Formats: sequence, structure tokens, C-alpha cells
Amino acid sequence: MKRRVFSGARPTGRQHLGNFLGAIQNYVNLQDEYDCVYCIVDVHALTSLEDTGGLQKNINEMVLDWLAAGLDPRKSILFVQSHIPEVMELHTLLSMITPLGWLLRVPTFKEKARLQPENINYGLVGYPVLMTADIVLYKGEFIPVGEDQLPHIELAREIARRFNNLFGYTFPEPEAKLTLFPLILGLDGKEKMSKQVGNDIDISLSDKETTERVMTAVTDPARRYRNDPGHPEICNIYRLQQYFNPFGLDNIGEQCRTAKIGCVDCKMLLAQEINSTLKPFRERRAALAEKPGYLVDVLADGAQRARAIAKETLKEVKQKMGLL
Ligand code: TYM
Repeated sequence: MKRRVFSGARPTGRQHLGNFLGAIQNYVNLQDEYDCVYCIVDVHALTSLEDTGGLQKNINEMVLDWLAAGLDPRKSILFVQSHIPEVMELHTLLSMITPLGWLLRVPTFKEKARLQPENINYGLVGYPVLMTADIVLYKGEFIPVGEDQLPHIELAREIARRFNNLFGYTFPEPEAKLTLFPLILGLDGKEKMSKQVGNDIDISLSDKETTERVMTAVTDPARRYRNDPGHPEICNIYRLQQYFNPFGLDNIGEQCRTAKIGCVDCKMLLAQEINSTLKPFRERRAALAEKPGYLVDVLADGAQRARAIAKETLKEVKQKMGLL
């Protein structure tokens, strides 16, 4: 029997290069070897969204991004979190065995509190418990995520372990699977690329929009004039070249260090490489966007398959906890 992979992402809009390089690449690559379950976590998105009017549109954008990137609904289960009510029930049950202290010290909670001081809601504190419920409901063993999610996966391991100790072995302890690019910085070159910070490049932008976004990126601050020698090792544009332009990398590094190439030239090169790498993805995405009925079918079929697994697990959990 194939081992289970589970992952999720918030429908906060179109996916960006951070999502793509940090997570989606692995979602796609793991499909043949593992039994994969991928979830659009709309309830998690509510922890930071105040205006929920665009949620359905965002879900749609996300399925488009996922399918166009190569997720195959014949191989993987693709579904929306709130379509499976069992996850809410499991979340409540797990919250009873999760010490509050564990949740308050999670670095991502502190980070969210910093980003949205006017909206530090109860759901934010319980965010990793809901995430654990997502994973263990499907008995996920391997979790492809970016580096920013590691504290959550660590907590999921602790909660799973605690449940197993209290009620008998039920859940595998989930293990994170990182890509070779687990943390992509944003256009500011400082913070992680994120929609909420606004420093992102969406993978579905047009060639022109991508070039415009790349042109706004911060590079080596020591390079104030065209003839100043650069330090590629600290430059985010150079880091992105590592993925999009691996064969031209040594050359670019050398030319930057000796000021033979300027930052604008380097950004132009990167934008061209991003656009040519993503061309097939963008073409597939445009074709899929013409078939909205197909997207609805994919999610309905995914929900049905996910729910069958979820019901089994929840029954087992309730029996073990003495509720049945
Ligand atoms: P989310 O929606 O923020 O991001 C989706 C995936 O993209 C990765 N990612 C990045 N990787 C590298 N560099 C970046 N700048 C970058 N930005 C995002 C994330 O690490 C993630 O893998 N809490 C999760 C969603 C979730 C989940 C789950 C994940 C809910 N339940 C269960 C795994 C298992 C989140 O908000 O991801």
C-alpha cells in the first residue's frame, strides 16, 4: 500500500513563486510514489480574512493553479476543507488535549499577531490544532510544505504523539518534506514572499506583469551605481536565478561581482527565465479557465473520496476517546 502524503494551502488568492517553489513542486512530484491528499484550507483563511467576499473566487484560482502546475485528480485527492465537516469535530476533540502553552509559543502565532494586531482572533491561536486535524484526519505521514510551516508540523507531531499516548496508537507522526527551495524571500529581499506582506510575484501573471514586478525587487544594497561590484550571495534576484536559470548562474555571479552586468540587466534575465519556465503552466491554466464545470467536478469528486477516509478516522477517534 502506498504511504499517505497530505498538504494544504490557504485560498488567499493566486499562488506565488514562494508557494510554487516551496510546496507545489513537491505536491506534483510526490503524486506517483504516494497516495496524495491536497486540501484548500478555506477555514484557515478566515483567520486572517476580514472580507470573505472573494473566497469562492480564490478557491477557484487555487484549483486552476494546482491543476495547471500538474496536480492530477486521477492520482491525487483535491478538495476544500470546509466540504468535510468531520475536520471541525476533530479539531474540537484535539483542542481538549492540546496545552494552551504549546500554542502561545508557536512563532507563527506571534508573527500573525504582529501582522494583524487589530484582529488577533481565537482561531489564530487554534490554527495549528486545526492544521493537525487536517493532517491526522487523513493519517498523513509526509507533509510537503515550505520552511515557514515547520513549527506547525512539529506541533502536529506533538499532538499526534500525545493522542497516541493517551488513547492508544492511532496517528502516524507527520514528517515535513521540503523542496530544495524551502524559503523564498519576497521582492523586498527581507521577508518571506507572502500575499499578506504584498511582496509576491504570482505565477499566473502575464509576461509583462511578471517583468514589471521583478523590476521592483530590492537587490544588493551596496550596489548603488552601475559600476559598483555586487555581492550575489546576498541578493534575492540571484537566489531566484538559482532555480530559474541554473545553467547561467556562474556567469551571472561572476558578471555581478565584476560589475559587468547591472541589476536591471540581471532582473531582465530573470524575468525572461521565469516567463519561459512558466509558459506551459500559463497556457494550461488559460485552457482550464475555460472549463469551470470541470473544476467543480474535480472538487466534488475529491470531497467524496476525502469524506470516506475522514468518517472512518473520526469514528475511530470517538471510540478511543470514549465518545462512542
Ligand atoms: P500557505 O497557504 O501560507 O502556503 C501554502 C504552501 O506554500 C508554502 N509557502 C512558501 N514556501 C517557500 N517560500 C515562501 N515564501 C512560501 N510561502 C508559502 C507554505 O509553506 C505552504 O506549504 N498553514 C498552511 C496551510 C495548511 C496546511 C495544513 C499545510 C493548513 N493545513 C496541513 C500542510 C498540512 C498555510 O497557511 O500555507
